[in-house]
Amino acid sequence: MLKDLDKPASRSRAVVIFSMAPKENTVLYKAPSFEHYNQAAQKNNNSHTQFAHNENYRRNSGSESECSDAAILHRQTSASTYRSETTQSTPVQSPYLGNLSPLSQSLWKNVKKSKSGPLMISPDDPTAWLTWKDLTVSVSLAGASTHLLLDNLSGYAEPGHMMAVMGPSGSGKSTLLDALAGRLAKNTMMTGDVHVNGRHRKLSYGSVAFVTQEDTLIGTLTVRETIFYSAHLRLPDAMPWSEKENIVESTILEMGLQDCADTAVGNWHLRGLSGGEKRRVSIALEILMRPRLLFLDEPTSGLDSASAFFVMQTLRGLSRDGRTVLFSIHQPSSEVFALFDKLYLLSGGRTIYFGDATHAHEFFAQAGFPCPQRRNPSDHFLRCVNSDFERVKQSLRSSVRHRKNAAVDPLEKHTTAEVIDILTNAYNTSGQAIATAVKIYEISQVKGLNLESSGSQASFFMQTKTLTKRSFINMTRDLGYYWLRLITYIFVAICVGTIYFKVGTSYNSILARGACTSYVAGFVTFMSIGGFPSFIEDMKVFQRERLNGHYGVWAFVVANTLSSFPFLVAIAIATGTICYYMAGLHPGFTHYLFFTINLLGCIGVVESLMMAVASVVSNFLLGIVTGAGLLGVFMLVAGFFRLPNELPKIFWRYPMSYLSFNYWALQGQYKNDYLGLQFDNVSPLLPPITGEEIITEKFQIDLSWSKWWDTAMIYVFLVAYRLVFFLNIKLNEKVTPYVRAFLTKQTAQWKGQKLSSKTVIPVKQSPDAGRG
Ligand SMILES: Nc1ncnc2c1ncn2[C@@H]1O[C@H](COP(=O)(O)OP(=O)(O)O)[C@@H](O)[C@H]1O
Ligand SMILES: [Mg+2]
Repeated sequence: MLKDLDKPASRSRAVVIFSMAPKENTVLYKAPSFEHYNQAAQKNNNSHTQFAHNENYRRNSGSESECSDAAILHRQTSASTYRSETTQSTPVQSPYLGNLSPLSQSLWKNVKKSKSGPLMISPDDPTAWLTWKDLTVSVSLAGASTHLLLDNLSGYAEPGHMMAVMGPSGSGKSTLLDALAGRLAKNTMMTGDVHVNGRHRKLSYGSVAFVTQEDTLIGTLTVRETIFYSAHLRLPDAMPWSEKENIVESTILEMGLQDCADTAVGNWHLRGLSGGEKRRVSIALEILMRPRLLFLDEPTSGLDSASAFFVMQTLRGLSRDGRTVLFSIHQPSSEVFALFDKLYLLSGGRTIYFGDATHAHEFFAQAGFPCPQRRNPSDHFLRCVNSDFERVKQSLRSSVRHRKNAAVDPLEKHTTAEVIDILTNAYNTSGQAIATAVKIYEISQVKGLNLESSGSQASFFMQTKTLTKRSFINMTRDLGYYWLRLITYIFVAICVGTIYFKVGTSYNSILARGACTSYVAGFVTFMSIGGFPSFIEDMKVFQRERLNGHYGVWAFVVANTLSSFPFLVAIAIATGTICYYMAGLHPGFTHYLFFTINLLGCIGVVESLMMAVASVVSNFLLGIVTGAGLLGVFMLVAGFFRLPNELPKIFWRYPMSYLSFNYWALQGQYKNDYLGLQFDNVSPLLPPITGEEIITEKFQIDLSWSKWWDTAMIYVFLVAYRLVFFLNIKLNEKVTPYVRAFLTKQTAQWKGQKLSSKTVIPVKQSPDAGRG
């Protein structure tokens, strides 16, 4: 039931209250102000509502004081000052913000902090209320047995709060976040209900942001450039440049990155940001579109305690802007622990505790495992549930101090498995578990705004343009991408040029010319594999951005092709010119042009082939081995090492030789070089040999089509491999989840588990950003 209280004259600042009245199951109030909020609570005379209000008020007034705590940090202070300037004194009144995803609007238009009241959210501003019930994730092991990764978990996450998923290593923290965000691995099965705003989760891209454990950033870009390109990839084309800049700058300030804004992120040859700064850049990229739901997998791992604290404090600030923040954390310091609102403690995929972080102490004490004084609470909780600690206890048994403590330590009386059982039972029978179930019911009954939105508001053209620019800058700055290869190509070309220097038209040069062109079209292009590691780095960034819906696969393919083109042309021209003129191949500019265009095609095909390989094999070592293997086979059937008609007919001649770009490249190169030339015969008494005779009789090449058709075939392969890349990624995203869901259902039925079609959720690997 929905009750509208009197609407305010100005743009409404309302609060949405969820409550469960004893008679009316779910009551949703829209109160235009804090006073109305109170009025609503009194009118309903509902203790739950009043509690919710008090709780909200406490939180939000708390956040005010926390903001002042944060003010000790200069960057935090300046960030909030900037924010208050942009949102209050000079509010961003962009007509375009209406075109942003509904989630994106909040920070700029709607969310305002009032000193006297709670967080104000207008009715059209969707907050994200996330619930999960009976969530089970399992993997099938060999022998048809199943391993449970998550066992019947239930919980909820609210806007304005941050929730820590804590537990020992391997307890299922990442699995839980992946399950909630719809990013589970392909081999897992998931059952249970995940709701966002009371709707069955179909999580998308833009409404939800996921910051992975690994910082996948482009090392050669500065922080400002990284955020700037990300903004241009996603914000609407029609939004003025200045406004996009505003968003970029405010995000930099919000994340406290202004001091390192012009520092490069850093890569193997470039010193860059610290771990904490990289983390904050990763978060900045995800909050650009103002998502309402933010997932972070171990945002503090690998950071020192001060950096971890700053990252956490920033996250707290983000949650206080009305976002729902969920993150996993392994072992926080006591300062970091004190920042948590909610705690979800896991062990072996089971719930040990879910509730207010501040009440965890009490829960452990009541369960018989009080936290000793002067011990970090998170250390104590993990110590209770970490089975690896058993071994630590064993090795400490001999120490005198340990023996003294053992007498009073309740943990000494039980094995870790027993402690976990005691705690799990204590939680399952606690009032907290019942309150959680009630709250999940309450929240899931209220149908809020559907948070679906596409991750990017930019057009395909804008995405491609921005990606091309970004990729070109990266290729220019990354020594390993093309520069090192260009140098190697020039070096090898000089070697080829000196070895075949002025090869001439003697009888002996007939084979030498063939060997020279074969080497250039085959082995020289082989070196393009060298760019694979850099491409794999690009792919990591692509996969992260793709999973978060920043742009489509097609935009990436086109941008990569365009941005690499100048470098490939440079390599082809440099290598082609040196080889051609030093070896003194067929005279004439058009022949030289053909040689270079053919070479460009070959280098481009190897690049595209490696792209196709990368879409299947993401490990760079495996990728290089696979690519090199394929290229080796293509070279074998090209017609130089074994003449075409002498190749075994089945498989090697048909179809392999026709599928090898080297075959077409060689045919074209031979026709280009030999046709029109005359060569000395073995004896001066014999008539000279024509190029035509050599090609047809010696190299068994068909002259019924022109050399340009041969070259055209190389470019067909170039496009085809890029299409393979595109289709592979699409197939992976679109078909695999459904095939997997189908197989899961079949397996479950086979095992006699009754899974309804509703409960088996196809796990999307990547979003459909709608822009192919
Ligand atoms: N896709 C998967 N296939 C098989 N086992 C998995 C998979 N994902 C996670 N696991 C296992 O599930 C357990 C929990 O993993 P994870 O959620 O990554 O733990 P945490 O993040 O708490 O360290 C681990 O034992 C891990 O090996
Ligand atoms: Mg993990």
